Amino acid sequence: MNNCAVILAAGEGTRMKSSSPKVLAQVLFTPMIDWVYSAVKEAGIDDICAVTGHLSEVVCAHLAGRCETVLQAQRLGTGHAVAQAKDFIAAHSGGNVLILNGDAPLIDKKTIEDALTFHVGNGNSATVISARVPEPTGYGRMVRSAEGSLERIVEQRDATEEEKLINEVNSGAYWFKCDDLLGALDDIESMGREKKEIYLTDAIEILINQFEKADAYPAETADVILGANDRWQLMELNEIARKRILKRHMVNGVNIPCIDGVIIAPDVEIGADTSVLPGTIIVGKTKIGSFCTIGPNSRLEDCVVGDSTVINSCQCEKSTVGSKVSLGPFSHLRPNTVIKDGVRAGNFVEVKNSVVGEKTSISHLTYIGDSDVGRGVNIGCGCATANYDGKNKFRTTIGNNVFVGCHTCMVSPVNLGDYSYTAAGSVITEDVPSGTMAIARSRQTIKRKVRKYNED
Ligand code: UD1
Ligand code: MG
Repeated sequence: MNNCAVILAAGEGTRMKSSSPKVLAQVLFTPMIDWVYSAVKEAGIDDICAVTGHLSEVVCAHLAGRCETVLQAQRLGTGHAVAQAKDFIAAHSGGNVLILNGDAPLIDKKTIEDALTFHVGNGNSATVISARVPEPTGYGRMVRSAEGSLERIVEQRDATEEEKLINEVNSGAYWFKCDDLLGALDDIESMGREKKEIYLTDAIEILINQFEKADAYPAETADVILGANDRWQLMELNEIARKRILKRHMVNGVNIPCIDGVIIAPDVEIGADTSVLPGTIIVGKTKIGSFCTIGPNSRLEDCVVGDSTVINSCQCEKSTVGSKVSLGPFSHLRPNTVIKDGVRAGNFVEVKNSVVGEKTSISHLTYIGDSDVGRGVNIGCGCATANYDGKNKFRTTIGNNVFVGCHTCMVSPVNLGDYSYTAAGSVITEDVPSGTMAIARSRQTIKRKVRKYNED
């Protein structure tokens, strides 16, 4: 089918008080325009054109390679914005065009598809996706005749007191027959001359006056039409999207006993019988297995976690964590870390760009950076790999079943062989062969009677 979509994204969004374009304001860590774009793609529409204007270069760079863009040099209204995409719409002559607002991110595949079925099924020239909302202020109102048919859309600023009471509003998303919309665009512009801006919504009245069919498709839930014009509305959209995602996980068997501070990004996957506890933020392409406990107060970004793992009050970025692992409280996994099955890493342990083998224990106050640690290793309290000499980074290798005594400093590059041992307080600068013990500290000596004691 020769259908296409135009996303309006030129607006300034002055009430956001942001130096970024409004359509890049984020809902659940995802720019609003990406939500709209994904919904359109999911509905099977691949030909997409975005109309950009305010900070156009930033929006175009964001969309690069994903869709066409056209510039609206001056913000003269939504009708004028669509007119900038005339050539794009004309290239889809004979098909239908979906027009959407880039600042209304909760539109979804189902609403788009159902509205198209309604549009095509009824042979409509235009179909407006509408919704009933308790507080219609700010939205265009759907004006219907005494018989109930759609007559026109009136904007807030032009509405009479009586029209302002109408609570069926325009979502800003519409299906049009491409050819009919193109025909109406010139008329919209001339209507706009009498008003402050050129309204796309005037296309409805124009088409009806031309005896074309225009109707409203009421969305199943009002959420899908909500837009964000300021930060408070943005928070409200975040709340709706957040709860939608939490509910999806709960329906799939994830246990979230209290949703306070729990934020899960759209692409995260979590297995059944895993619990997510308050204050936990899981973002990016994170994938968590079953029977885990994540949280409280943890943040995971782009991580893969196995089954039956506990992550309590930790920060984990771009890392892989195996099964039956216990992390935390207060551990930090920095990028490119692999923690294998059965590992325990505890209080104030930081691991970066390292592999930690099965059943290794790093329980307290330790830094492991740029290291390959074997299995069954015990790393005592307060150890560090000195991986950086001020200019270059070097790797440390710790074999299997090594015992690293408390407060060992491993000055890399250095290797600790299998079953080797370092004495507490050692500064290891040379390799330790397998099965040996390194003591690299000065021997304790006792000097007698240097201080008086027991005499106040
Ligand atoms: C618009 C609709 C209103 C509807 C509401 C839903 C019109 C005239 N009114 O009003 O009926 O209820 O959306 O949210 O269409 N934009 C441009 N260029 C412009 C002006 C706007 O690209 O010159 C873009 C904006 O970036 C935004 C979208 O169009 O993504 C809507 O613009 P906005 O100014 O927010 O329109 P509303 O007043 O919300
Ligand atoms: Mg708006």
